[in-house]
Amino acid sequence: MISEQEYKKRRELLAASLRKNSATLLLSAEAKTRSNDTEYPYRQNSNFYYLTGFTEDKSAILILKTAQKTKSYLFVAKKDKALELWHGERVGVKKAKKLFEFDGVYEYGELKTIFEENLARKSSFYYDFLNENSELESFLVLTKGFYAHKNIAKRVAKMRLIKSDAEIALIRKAVAITQEAHHKAMSRVAKLSHEYELLAEIEYVFKKNGAYSDAYTSIVASANAANTLHYINNNKPLQKSELILIDAGCEYAYYASDITRTIPASGKFSEHQKELYALVLRVEKEIIEMVKPGVLRSELDSRCEELLCEGMVALGILKGKVKKLIKKKKHKRYYPHSVGHWMGIDVHDQAPYKTKKGKEIPLRAGMVLTIEPGLYCEKSDAKIPQKYRGVGVRIEDDILVTHDGYENLSKSIAKEIDEIESRGSKK
Ligand code: GLY
Ligand code: MN
Ligand code: MN
Repeated sequence: MISEQEYKKRRELLAASLRKNSATLLLSAEAKTRSNDTEYPYRQNSNFYYLTGFTEDKSAILILKTAQKTKSYLFVAKKDKALELWHGERVGVKKAKKLFEFDGVYEYGELKTIFEENLARKSSFYYDFLNENSELESFLVLTKGFYAHKNIAKRVAKMRLIKSDAEIALIRKAVAITQEAHHKAMSRVAKLSHEYELLAEIEYVFKKNGAYSDAYTSIVASANAANTLHYINNNKPLQKSELILIDAGCEYAYYASDITRTIPASGKFSEHQKELYALVLRVEKEIIEMVKPGVLRSELDSRCEELLCEGMVALGILKGKVKKLIKKKKHKRYYPHSVGHWMGIDVHDQAPYKTKKGKEIPLRAGMVLTIEPGLYCEKSDAKIPQKYRGVGVRIEDDILVTHDGYENLSKSIAKEIDEIESRGSKK
């Protein structure tokens, strides 16, 4: 749980960084129609959530800053018995005043008027450039030409880079649920016949633990499908002799986990699968070991490329000198993505990788990032040894940067070959 005090502190920190004589507007996410009068499950806008913990649509934060003072207001949907019958109870203004520590709470319907009334003597207008809420447009029209438009998302993103203890606790919980899901997949795999059956096992564990959603659409990619990086069809029959790449992580209380394990459909790795898997595992562990404050993500990236490249030469997938191969980016064909990404409220957390001046931001205690090397050998690739064709492997863990190094938050999710095999052979 994140306390209201913590949300308030975030808003104060944000407000302190804003220009004087400015208005700042953050809108909630908009409910999205699936068809006719049916809606997609609602998820709050991540930045809005970070600053409020409030999960209703038709809500907004307005921060008004003059030369002397700063005031923050919350706008919420009004109570409406007829609408609440269909869509559920609304918090409403009266209760929101008690729950949230804003300088004032108003009905969302009043937002436009109050916004306009307070525009005089303001020179900057901050809003979230990435928020797709269609109602934003009317506020842009009001301010266009008269006010400097500035992206509030950049400031919030910077704050989201370092996680508080309460945030880390929620990520831990998400990872713990995801651990149960991956272990369930490992123990059930040999008895199942389709990718979607594995998916069902995983999603069952998520949901029964109160993680209502995944943090991203799960990937259950068997055999050559593992070589399609964003494979989400998850509908093929499992082939006993092949590997299955499972990239699945739940979202718990708005915090993500992002875990990949690659497991044999039969429960046992074959020799050539072991060769590829052992290489990716060795590289993953070595890169995780490098994580500590001061290190650059690009250093992890380069070392990862170098180690994978060396390994590929040893296995006969690439031929030539490692340095030259890397210079010519020959490894990219088999390892086309980067070593990992920030993770938090979003799986690819909206947090900057570079400073305003374009300098890379070094790792610092409290950051959370994934480490996820992979090797992808397309079935049709005639350049590589036959035995590796159609095999794809990725291993991904969630890493917290600590003051003196790192903590692998997902270290208890089995990834050693013998561990996976023994889970696969349990009756
Ligand atoms: N699951 C998305 C990723 O690994 O980045
Ligand atoms: Mn990832
Ligand atoms: Mn992933």
